Amino acid sequence: KCLIGYTKPFVKCGRNGYVMPAAFRTYAETIYNLEVRPDDIWVITFPRSGTTWTQEMVWLIENDLDFKAAKEKPLYARFPMLETTTQIPRVAFELIKANFMNLAYFQGLSNAVRNPSWKTIAEAPSPRFIKTHLPLSLLPPKLLSTAKVIYVARDPRDVAVSYYYLHKMISKSLMRANFCHFWEAFRRDLLPWTPIVAHTNEAWEKRHNPNLHFMFYEDMIKDLPKEIRAVCKFLDRKYSAEKIDQLAGYLSFDSLRKNKNVNNTTGKNGDVQFLRKGEAGGWKTHFDDKMKLQAEEFLSLRLRGLNLSYPSFP
Ligand code: A3P
Repeated sequence: KCLIGYTKPFVKCGRNGYVMPAAFRTYAETIYNLEVRPDDIWVITFPRSGTTWTQEMVWLIENDLDFKAAKEKPLYARFPMLETTTQIPRVAFELIKANFMNLAYFQGLSNAVRNPSWKTIAEAPSPRFIKTHLPLSLLPPKLLSTAKVIYVARDPRDVAVSYYYLHKMISKSLMRANFCHFWEAFRRDLLPWTPIVAHTNEAWEKRHNPNLHFMFYEDMIKDLPKEIRAVCKFLDRKYSAEKIDQLAGYLSFDSLRKNKNVNNTTGKNGDVQFLRKGEAGGWKTHFDDKMKLQAEEFLSLRLRGLNLSYPSFP
């Protein structure tokens, strides 16, 4: 039971008990056995950690900063998500009905669902760009010895806030809870893809693998050009300082927010957008004193015995 009004059942999967829709059981094995290719590039995150931001960065770095081509195709089509599930039509239908999502985007998503992503991805020509929120342990075991992987982590408190607004944006019926209830579900690891710290720790433990580039959302906020340069190095791509600055400008929050191929879904009256605030530390205004204490306990407990630390929570 998830506390916040999901009607579909969830199951706990894998060694850390990741919360996945029950339907995941029908395709988990296919994903685990997916053939990984040496020229694949994967972006792996817990939801709301800067996935979209990183995908657009990686796609452009790999495509000679072809901003024009990036504008011609929505990001989900250039960089599909592996575990797109049958939940999508219901959610998308609500969005389109309420005029929150544009039709072309909806049609793209519906097609993706009729042909599940893991099928189209398996048949897609190289080079493939693959996004997933699945933790490493639920992905093909040969992933890190074969392809390049970028993992982005974010302070779980900011993730909780951002995830809350995503739920609010997606569905009123799904999200009657206030943030306090949502936080309760989050810290008790009852929401899809939780537990977040274990998810991040799996990648953190492998951060010295030459095929894994680990980065923090907070570092992207602090110095985006520096993080772009690090990704370029990881991907073996060279760009002039001027080009890096150009890319950083394109990837700035204000610019991406206006980009309909990236920031495509909004809540009623545009009040909540997929790209919402784009800041680090915003959680402080959402947590009361009790929740702040709970958050500290939650993080201390989950991080106990691990080598992982967050830049914002040492
Ligand atoms: P907020 O809700 O805190 O604003 P994901 O793509 O993994 O779902 O992550 C979404 C989060 O990344 C949102 O956080 C979104 O605003 C933030 N984000 C996306 N692009 C960004 C950018 N250019 N600068 C800062 N934050 C960005």
